Amino acid sequence: MLCLCIFLTLCLSAVYSQFPRACTTESAFRTKICCPAWKNAGPCGSRAGRGRCRNMIVFQPFAAGQVPQYDDDRLGWPRHYYDSTCECFENYSGFNCGSCKYGYFGEKCDQKKIVIRREIRELSFLEQKRFFSYLALAKTTKSKDFVILSTGDRHHRDTYRFVDASIYDVFAWIHYYSMKPILINSTFDSTHNYAHQGPAFPGWHRLGLVSLEREIQLMTGDKDFALPYYDWRGEKNCSICTNDFVGDNDVQGILNPYSHFSGWRCICSGFNYPDAYCPFASEEFQMERLQRKPGANPQSNRLPSFKDVEDTLKWGNFDTPPYNNEAKQSFRNALEGFLRASDGMTLERNMHNLVHIYLGGTMSQVAISSNDPVFVLHHGFIDKIYEAWIHKYNGTPDTYPENEELGQGPNECSTPYFPCYRNKDLLRKSTYFGYKYSTYQGL
Ligand SMILES: *[C@@H]1O[C@H](CO)[C@@H](O)[C@H](O)[C@H]1NC(C)=O
Ligand SMILES: *[C@@H]1O[C@H](CO)[C@@H](O)[C@H](O)[C@H]1NC(C)=O
Ligand SMILES: *[C@@H]1O[C@H](CO)[C@@H](O)[C@H](O)[C@H]1NC(C)=O
Repeated sequence: MLCLCIFLTLCLSAVYSQFPRACTTESAFRTKICCPAWKNAGPCGSRAGRGRCRNMIVFQPFAAGQVPQYDDDRLGWPRHYYDSTCECFENYSGFNCGSCKYGYFGEKCDQKKIVIRREIRELSFLEQKRFFSYLALAKTTKSKDFVILSTGDRHHRDTYRFVDASIYDVFAWIHYYSMKPILINSTFDSTHNYAHQGPAFPGWHRLGLVSLEREIQLMTGDKDFALPYYDWRGEKNCSICTNDFVGDNDVQGILNPYSHFSGWRCICSGFNYPDAYCPFASEEFQMERLQRKPGANPQSNRLPSFKDVEDTLKWGNFDTPPYNNEAKQSFRNALEGFLRASDGMTLERNMHNLVHIYLGGTMSQVAISSNDPVFVLHHGFIDKIYEAWIHKYNGTPDTYPENEELGQGPNECSTPYFPCYRNKDLLRKSTYFGYKYSTYQGL
């Protein structure tokens, strides 16, 4: 992890996250154009027919003269920064149309491939070793395409800078960034968030996982690679919290020194407060180690049961008004874990939230929880339940509701991904994105 690339000394309301490195130049900020060239084929590979530079990436642009005076850099993503981005044709994708849509491979992106995500205990010994070594590589390989945003103070744009990060840390950072309180009229609103407490929750996390999976496929050249998941239903304790899998820990929560992730450091640890982004995301500062304390929290000392998952899948409404953490009889709110799934009425911690708190340590600090690879395994299983719901109730983009949650409208871009994926477009069968799930213990 090298440090600062660019200081934003320009007087621009420009900040970017998970940003294409090629679009963090002074001229990209000045012109608000993010249409990098692909090879020798011009911006967005236009001369090779891969795409074109399109004005207005946002599918629901603000009407002229009605641009809201929000201070938050993520709102209306990525409209606040770029007016023009690449629109890619056919099976092409990526910030310069130089890559393929998820699920497609080959120079012309004409080979469709569906990988199978399996329960981590279904993998052979060799496949497990391969998974852990790929993660180790992703944690130490600098992201070629993306840089992340670091600030000391969100009110002062001259403290913003872009820093290099590893492939895994870019993934961890995206989650952290999406969860920061929203700055509106100079005050912080922590009751809304771009990735949680609303209908965007399942799709947002689906996109995060599939982007990490693809980065690992490209980094290793292993097109068959699929992220595994952890089916925690009915577990008495975290049975994968051993050194063969995600690591044993001591009573303080420190991972066993002989386990795979004992040397990992958490990006943005210690900065889980609103007025800064991730100021210490560089090696000059000491980042915390991962910590985990499964079962140690007396309020959340169990994992969800088979019945909890069954009950969650009873709710045929994808989400219900008011589309936040108080939604009743809502599949999304039951899955996210603000609702008792059996009655659909009682607000209580369950499912997704319960597992975060059960695992403790880094996982229980939800903003930075993505630093612990058990996050990937946990969300893989959450995504599998989402997939089961889509099949059971024939979910399509039209199922995604209109709602008032900031950044979670059906036509808004999932924040802060690049390129733009509309929230509603993430409500599709997983084969559309190039993967499916194994059947394990009846699900
Ligand atoms: C896109 O991929 C499909 C395979 O799923 C292929 O049939 C089609 O020809 C591809 N499109 C182009 C323009 O290559
Ligand atoms: C921000 O302040 C302006 C002017 O005082 C006001 O009109 C607007 O409603 C406020 N916006 C929000 C979201 O509070
Ligand atoms: C989980 O419980 C089983 C028995 O129920 C025990 O053998 C095992 O050591 C426990 N594992 C952990 C990580 O606590």
